[in-house]
Amino acid sequence: MSDLNSDDDDAALEKGRLLFSRKWDFLLGVPSIRHLPPEGPVEVAFAGRSNVGKSSLINALVNQNGLARTSNTPGRTQELNYFIPASGDDVPELAIVDMPGYGFAKAPKSRVLSWTGMVFDFLQGRSTLRRVFVLVDVRHGLKPNDLEVLSLMDKAAVSYQIVLTKADKVKPPALQKVLSRVHEEIKKRPAAHPEILVTSAEKKSGIEELRAAIAILVDSD
Ligand code: GTP
Ligand code: MG
Repeated sequence: MSDLNSDDDDAALEKGRLLFSRKWDFLLGVPSIRHLPPEGPVEVAFAGRSNVGKSSLINALVNQNGLARTSNTPGRTQELNYFIPASGDDVPELAIVDMPGYGFAKAPKSRVLSWTGMVFDFLQGRSTLRRVFVLVDVRHGLKPNDLEVLSLMDKAAVSYQIVLTKADKVKPPALQKVLSRVHEEIKKRPAAHPEILVTSAEKKSGIEELRAAIAILVDSD
């Protein structure tokens, strides 16, 4: 890596640190698309299969346990939950959206359908949505329903980035294997960000890099 790049990396890490050193608040839960707040700040959303660790990763990001509700039971998050910095600004510079998980086998069919409708509408129609972080459990890799969601975002030209979660659960060789498989899968996908992030909310690893990636998106607005 050149010096210029590492200077840029350092600046992004510092911006990320600042962005998440303040307190964050829950703004609102959105049960259907017509309840969305007016478009304002840059938004980043966390998507992924049920139980992959979306809410846990948001808590690690803002360093506030319990901001986003987490659970052992898949399907905990059922609305689009909006979080914003507690700055008091009229238009905050960033909003984080925690999404309900998909692929929850035990959910009633009606709920699965309404999830699909709402989330697909949100992903396709939200002009302030700068990137979707698609979380993938490092033990499972990309599943067919992940690929469906990626294809939808490729079609809708919604930028997304894969974030491997629960990295504490596997050893380095297994991690490398998943990384190369996921790289192979996304390299042909037009809306995929090429860099894959590796995180553990449990061990707080990869969190600074995720903060930096988000800070760059806020800055480039
Ligand atoms: P839904 O809202 O149901 O879609 O789930 P979610 O993706 O928000 O997952 P959540 O954050 O609620 O976490 C699900 C389970 O995984 C919880 O029991 C967490 O404690 C656990 N978990 C989350 N992140 C990690 C991690 O980095 N390492 C380990 N070992 N467990 C984790
Ligand atoms: Mg959740």
